[in-house]
Amino acid sequence: MSCPLENLLAYLSQCSGFDFPRRRHAFCRKKIDSRISALGCAGTREYHRHLTAHPKELRLLLNTLTVNVSSFFRTPLTFEYLDHKILGAVIADKQKDRSGLRIWSAGCAMGEEAYSLAIQIREHLEKQHIEMDVRIFGTDIDSAILEQAVIGRFQFDQIKNVRHERVQRYFRKEGKEYHLDEEIKKMVDFSFYDMMDPRTHVPPESVFGDFDLVLCRNVLIYFSRENQKKICEKLYRSIAPKGYLILGQSETIHGQYTDRLIREIPCCQIFRKPDPHA
Ligand SMILES: C[S@@+](CC[C@H](N)C(=O)[O-])C[C@H]1O[C@@H](n2cnc3c(N)ncnc32)[C@H](O)[C@@H]1O
Repeated sequence: MSCPLENLLAYLSQCSGFDFPRRRHAFCRKKIDSRISALGCAGTREYHRHLTAHPKELRLLLNTLTVNVSSFFRTPLTFEYLDHKILGAVIADKQKDRSGLRIWSAGCAMGEEAYSLAIQIREHLEKQHIEMDVRIFGTDIDSAILEQAVIGRFQFDQIKNVRHERVQRYFRKEGKEYHLDEEIKKMVDFSFYDMMDPRTHVPPESVFGDFDLVLCRNVLIYFSRENQKKICEKLYRSIAPKGYLILGQSETIHGQYTDRLIREIPCCQIFRKPDPHA
């Protein structure tokens, strides 16, 4: 007889594109059991039936099966590299073209990575006395986390990599929370977007994509190889010529893009789309 947990995970996989390898089954079991007892279902089979009839519960469960954990300047080396080697050059290029800077943080959780970039960009622009149109789009599949991103209040753990002078300048401490500066908050637009959406290759809010920087860090890990390939295709298409793709430290681009994107440095997952006119 087939196992109810495996049936349920196969259904979840079909609905979301997520991969549930055996090593994650114990974690999933715990999350599913907690929903079963919250709803008072008799067991996994009954909960499975409930899920198929209640899309909201399905979304809620999927959100608990991916981890929303993030932090400002997560993987500091990547942000140091962006700050010292990439952002200055990209801003100079944009200034030459008289165009604006466009960034997409895909799977942005509470906005920590989008806001970290906003801080770095603001500092670059200030230092060089430049005014520039900067559009940063933060998207996620978890609507509740996006609401928190807009509010912009963080716990110490989320800001532990922020340098002291930046904490002083960009956060106001209230009780145990750190409230982000309104000017930084205004630099990021948050919206719902499912990376598995087959109808679009960029978030509709961004209208046309063409991003100078695309960050999709610690998101691919949840998906099967086949779905990672679909997401990589989407990411690749969304990057402007000479633009950058940044993945999580344990992630890599799908095989078919290894010769279409150039790796910047060996120690970070930063890739560049070549200049077609070079
Ligand atoms: C571990 S967090 C990564 C946050 C941030 N990018 C970082 O690296 O710190 C993974 C995020 O991916 C989001 N996510 C999972 N599946 C998604 C999908 N199909 N489309 C968009 N976001 C998704 C989750 O809701 C979660 O907020």
